[in-house]
This record gives sequence, C-alpha cells and structure tokens, in this order.
Amino acid sequence: MSDSNVRQQIDHYSKYAEKFENTIWTMGPRENRNHRIKIAKIVDALRSEDGGRVLEIGVGSGLHAEHVLEHTKFDYTGFDASTSMLKMAAQRLERHADRFHVGIGDAHKLPVADGAFDAVFCSGTMHHLRDPARGMHEIARAVKPGGPVAVMEPNWKFPSMLVAGLVVRAEREVFRLSGPKMLQWARAAGLEDIKLERVLYTPPKPERWAAKFDRFDKWAAGVAGLRRWSVMLFLTARRPA
Ligand SMILES: C[S@@+](CC[C@H](N)C(=O)[O-])C[C@H]1O[C@@H](n2cnc3c(N)ncnc32)[C@H](O)[C@@H]1O
Repeated sequence: MSDSNVRQQIDHYSKYAEKFENTIWTMGPRENRNHRIKIAKIVDALRSEDGGRVLEIGVGSGLHAEHVLEHTKFDYTGFDASTSMLKMAAQRLERHADRFHVGIGDAHKLPVADGAFDAVFCSGTMHHLRDPARGMHEIARAVKPGGPVAVMEPNWKFPSMLVAGLVVRAEREVFRLSGPKMLQWARAAGLEDIKLERVLYTPPKPERWAAKFDRFDKWAAGVAGLRRWSVMLFLTARRPA
C-alpha cells in the first residue's frame, strides 16, 4: 500500500462496512435513484467495449459491479483497499462467480499490468485519495490504448457533501477535488476526448418525487449559476490509441 492515507481509509471502512448500505448520507438504502442514475451513466460511457474486461477502482459493497454484471457482457475485476468492503461485495456478487474477480489494491498503485483492461471506471473513490492525480494516472495506465474511462465523484459544493467533508475525517480529501482539477489530472495522465459533466442536483429521496427531481435536474443542468452545485462530477475520456 502506498504511503498515503490508505491506513486511515482501511480503518474507517472496517468500522463502517456494516452501515455502508444504509446511512444518513444516502438517506436510507444505498440502492437509490441517484445511484441508479450514476451507474447507468458510467455503463453508457463504457459501452463501446462491452464484452471485454472492465476494471473498477474502489469496489465498495459491489453495487456498481452487480449492475455491470447484470446489464453488460463485461467480465468484471475490482480492487479496493478494504477487506471488509470486499467481503460484502463478494457476498453480493456470489451468483456471478464465473465473471468477476475482486482483490485488495491501492488506487495509488494498482496491481495491474499496463493496458490490461478494455475499460476502467472509478466511482466515489477518487475523493478518498490523498493523491488523486496519481489515481487518475493509474486509471489511464490500466486501460488499453483507445479504451474508455469514466470517473464519477462527489462535488463538495453540494450541501450534504460539504457537511460530510467537514465532519467525517475519511471524507476530507473531497476538498482536493473539483471539475477543473479533474480535467487537469486527466490531461496530465495523457487521456484524450476528455469531457466533464455535472450530474444530479437533487437528493436521492423521496423516491415518489423522482419525476419532479428528474425535471429539476434537467433544468438545473442548463443554468450556468447552478451548475457548480451539482451532486456529482462525471469525467469521461479515452486513452489515445
Ligand atoms: C464510498 S465507497 C465507494 C464504493 C463504490 N464504488 C460505490 O460507489 O458504491 C469508497 C471505497 O473506496 C475504498 N478506498 C478508499 N481508499 C482507497 C484506496 N486508496 N485504494 C482503493 N480503494 C480505496 C474504500 O474502502 C471504499 O470501499
């Protein structure tokens, strides 16, 4: 493991793993509208390679992995720093045993060969890294030439993330992250076709307001002054062929 904040992250997630699926920050069960939208956008961004090998950095409880395995033809590999989180993911993914592999790995120094994956994504994990520029470099290294990458991270300017960043030590690195910085790291990592989208402006609950939230999100995305308050920052790019 790299000499960063990884030990702190491992300690946090070993205590927090059991509560991860149902927290105050997700306003109840994690499998909610906002997560479904995020995951669908990530999968869409990687579709050009569907059927190859996809890598996720920061598996968590396997929510993204499950969607990938159920809705694409990808074979899935994922790394996470926390054994506690990987145990949860392995339980969730049991029925897909022949198409997934998860293991311990630090996003700052991935245990993978250069260009080993057809597509790579990271969701909600880069904002835990002490050196996110290094994390972006690793993403760019892991994908094959011409392969797509997708990175979905929280925006500390959204009120609940601002509070989480201030009160939860393990969330503090979120202040290192911004749209312009993500673009800069992607360029420095040698990626091309780089795009940044600001995604979601509404909380995940109540689900019965989903249609209203969808309309608000669509409207907010077109209002210059509001765009900076999005829940998530979504970067897509490609390694040069
Ligand atoms: C908020 S969870 C996100 C998990 C999943 N992608 C999701 O959105 O549900 C963050 C995950 O990043 C992992 N993590 C934190 N620092 C890491 C590092 N340096 N390398 C790999 N994983 C790390 C944590 O153990 C945790 O499982």
